[in-house]
Amino acid sequence: MEKQIKVASTKEKLARVLAQSVVGCYQRWKVERGVDDNQCFYLALSGGSLPAALAELSKPEYKNEIEWARCRVFFADERCVPLSHPDSNFKTCWDAFLRLVEIPEGNVISIDPTKEPHECAQLYAAQLKEVPVRDGFPSFDLILLGMGPDGHTASLFPGHALVQEEKLSVAAILDSPKPPPCRITLTLPVLNNSSCVIFVTSGAGKAKVLAKIVEEGSTEFPAGLVKPNDGSVCWLLDSEAASKLPGGKL
Ligand code: 6PG
Repeated sequence: MEKQIKVASTKEKLARVLAQSVVGCYQRWKVERGVDDNQCFYLALSGGSLPAALAELSKPEYKNEIEWARCRVFFADERCVPLSHPDSNFKTCWDAFLRLVEIPEGNVISIDPTKEPHECAQLYAAQLKEVPVRDGFPSFDLILLGMGPDGHTASLFPGHALVQEEKLSVAAILDSPKPPPCRITLTLPVLNNSSCVIFVTSGAGKAKVLAKIVEEGSTEFPAGLVKPNDGSVCWLLDSEAASKLPGGKL
């Protein structure tokens, strides 16, 4: 597993590094596997502060670097709320950047929030069947993740049984410590089956856990268990989140 760490001094610069990293991942995919126009680029997004940072991709210098009509966008986790609800990652990502890059709405695959969480997870797993399979699990080309101060990622929380899930691609959680409580989440077998994972992490509150994961290789936290079997992980940090790394940056 290839690991990169990039540190930006401000949130604005972090958003630029993120946009450059996403475009870079897409361009590498296009050269390596996207030569056939029928191929799609499979992407999974997280919620939290990530959608606002991704708005950078709608700026003129990036907007046309990705052929959004070739992208199929899923969610690394999603809250079990109506798609119009402010807590919905679909809504947050759509409003913040997907509508701005003019991706065809049918290319964004959301959950069916009318179903109870376990059925919602099963249905989403069925929708994931369009994603190419590698070693028995969907293999995304790029998954964008955040990390909470407790080291959670997607909706995989420290000490939760879902962190140990080895069979399901998508699981339901009814007791998320981060509200709202009911969510669905991609599981670690899927996260670790991605060709590229980009973590976007900012804020001093994450510095201690981040240093344990990135510097010490701790596997105590779910984010530290994201180690793609045949892929890369890139940590994009602001200075505050990187403040406990040696010299503030590697
Ligand atoms: C969610 C997110 C979640 C998020 C982290 C970090 O749906 O809540 O997917 O996993 O990525 O909580 O959030 P911040 O970047 O806002 O700190």
